[in-house]
Amino acid sequence: TEQTYIMVKPDGVQRGLVGEIIKRFETRGFQLVALKMVHASVEHLEEHYKDLKGKGFFPGLIKYMNSGPVVAMVWQGKDVVKQGRVLLGATNPLASAPGTIRGDFAIDVGRNICHGSDSVESAKAEIALWFGQDGTISYSRAVDAWIYEVSLAGQER
Ligand code: GTP
Ligand code: MG
Repeated sequence: TEQTYIMVKPDGVQRGLVGEIIKRFETRGFQLVALKMVHASVEHLEEHYKDLKGKGFFPGLIKYMNSGPVVAMVWQGKDVVKQGRVLLGATNPLASAPGTIRGDFAIDVGRNICHGSDSVESAKAEIALWFGQDGTISYSRAVDAWIYEVSLAGQER
């Protein structure tokens, strides 16, 4: 089963959007398998965003992400990496469709309130980086029979 790393950034926490962001993933039918609040260090954030090192906005990005606590989550479900980014909207909120999280709640690219893994591979690396020690929780949900056409125990979805 696919998993993705979703994070409410410091501005999302400050603006009281944690519940709203969780609600959108929950009501879509995705399953929450890890959650914690953390004030990430500069070193940790530089590792998380290492692919962007060298970009002009990198120092500002690290400062923004280090400015307060974030809510770190792992969500699970069919195609959740791609679908998670659909729920978030485009990187630049001005290009995000209404109905997406960024399109409904943000304006500036440097204050876009949430993060989602961009591939299954980066999801694995990000889950290991943020939840390495704690891991994720495996549990079954009776409601899955009403969300997935095929939901027999142990079946791929
Ligand atoms: P994340 O889900 O946060 O990883 O966003 P993304 O995958 O849509 O974009 P990307 O990984 O390329 O950039 C990571 C983050 O850096 C973005 O979410 C923005 O917060 C920030 N960022 C990206 N491009 C710009 C930019 O041109 N200017 C500024 N100020 N910030 C940027
Ligand atoms: Mg990214």
